[in-house]
Amino acid sequence: MSNLPDVYYNKDSDSFAFSTARVRWIKIIQDTIDDVIQTSEKSSNPDFQKEGEAIASQLKGLKSDVENDGAVKPFDDSSIKAFASFNKVLKGQSYTWLTGPWLFLENYLYRIINSFFVEKSLWFNYDIFDNLKRSSFESSVDGVTELAIRYYQLTETSQKLDDETKQILFNEFAEISLWGNATDLSLLATATLDDIKSIQGAEARKKSEANILTNDLKQAWESLSSNTNEHKRVDFVLDNAGFEVYTDLIFALFLLDTGIANEIVFHTKDIPWMVSDVNIKDFYILLQDLKNTKLFNKSRKELDHLINKIEYYNNNGTLNLRTSPFWTLDLDFWNIDPSETQFGGSKVHKDLLDSSLVIFKGDMNYRKLTGDRRWDSTTPFTKSIGSLASNGLKILALRTIKADVLVGLPEGVYDQVSDEWAKSNESRLGWLSSGKYAVISFSNGEN
Ligand code: F6P
Ligand code: MG
Repeated sequence: MSNLPDVYYNKDSDSFAFSTARVRWIKIIQDTIDDVIQTSEKSSNPDFQKEGEAIASQLKGLKSDVENDGAVKPFDDSSIKAFASFNKVLKGQSYTWLTGPWLFLENYLYRIINSFFVEKSLWFNYDIFDNLKRSSFESSVDGVTELAIRYYQLTETSQKLDDETKQILFNEFAEISLWGNATDLSLLATATLDDIKSIQGAEARKKSEANILTNDLKQAWESLSSNTNEHKRVDFVLDNAGFEVYTDLIFALFLLDTGIANEIVFHTKDIPWMVSDVNIKDFYILLQDLKNTKLFNKSRKELDHLINKIEYYNNNGTLNLRTSPFWTLDLDFWNIDPSETQFGGSKVHKDLLDSSLVIFKGDMNYRKLTGDRRWDSTTPFTKSIGSLASNGLKILALRTIKADVLVGLPEGVYDQVSDEWAKSNESRLGWLSSGKYAVISFSNGEN
């Protein structure tokens, strides 16, 4: 496609990129330094401490590079595939941290942080975001319990639901999974327990419905329910651990219980990523936490019912988890295409072709679907996702808005929301990074 709009850059003062690179990234790197120092201090192994010191010093160097708008250097070792993808872009470019392309650099940041760990023999699989992920889930007790009760009430009858009721519940569970994304640790690093609770309850979800600025759930439902394949698989390209993946699980269980799908695949990240993203081990930690009767001491009957269901589906092969290094590259999702044979895009495409619906969760996945470009907000979703609109994948994006890129809106809505927001907020476009608005967009893969 010619004449593509430009991507967002960290130098763009009209974009959330600007403060992200200057404030949020600095805080996130500082938090990783503090975590490494504290973890080292707790250990009695001098070798572990020594490696910890080395990592902390590398992280400090990175922080200083970002703060001082240093040059973005390629990885030393291009024989590692994931690094080669970044290096390919960096070759012949002279990006700096505070001016370069936002999407590329944000992915590069988490990749380079991880590279400091994987090269150390005693820290190679340390999850630098584990503490944050776990403590945040521990603050989600009320929301988690409420959803377990809701799921319990519904599952006794779910086998016999008529199509109309199934569709209503499909919408409800999809929206629960959508707003589950609002609890994102990279944005809510400073949120209080009450802040988190206020976005996790049923009442909050109802209120938020008006904030879904475009909603293609009807098309997604029609596509899935009219699909006559004997085997119907629904995929989730997951985003965050903890409360969000819990809401995804509830949606997945509903799909399996009702026979709307007979297989679910969860795609996780392969390394600690964007602070809160799910790794496979986080799924098992979640199950352990749910079983913890000290943490969850109320509504045990409902919680145990839910845990049994998850384990049942996981053990009998209908709820599967897998990961691919592709999800933690710089590459946007226009690369999920048979033509991308170098870094795994064609493999991911081939895998997803077996799916009746691929659900992309969250903000970063949406930015990668749309290439993080300056599209006009009324651009059709199918135009913004490039060849993905026509290469056979049925795609549903469930995204709470935390960044500038936005498509698929009816004429006038962008300005209307901006005007409304400006009445009670300083920055007219602040709603774009607030996580209070959302979009649900569908593409049938045959445009
Ligand atoms: O775009 C804003 C942002 O906070 C990014 O820094 C990060 O890409 C993303 O949102 C994280 O959100 P999510 O977990 O929904 O992908
Ligand atoms: Mg995330």
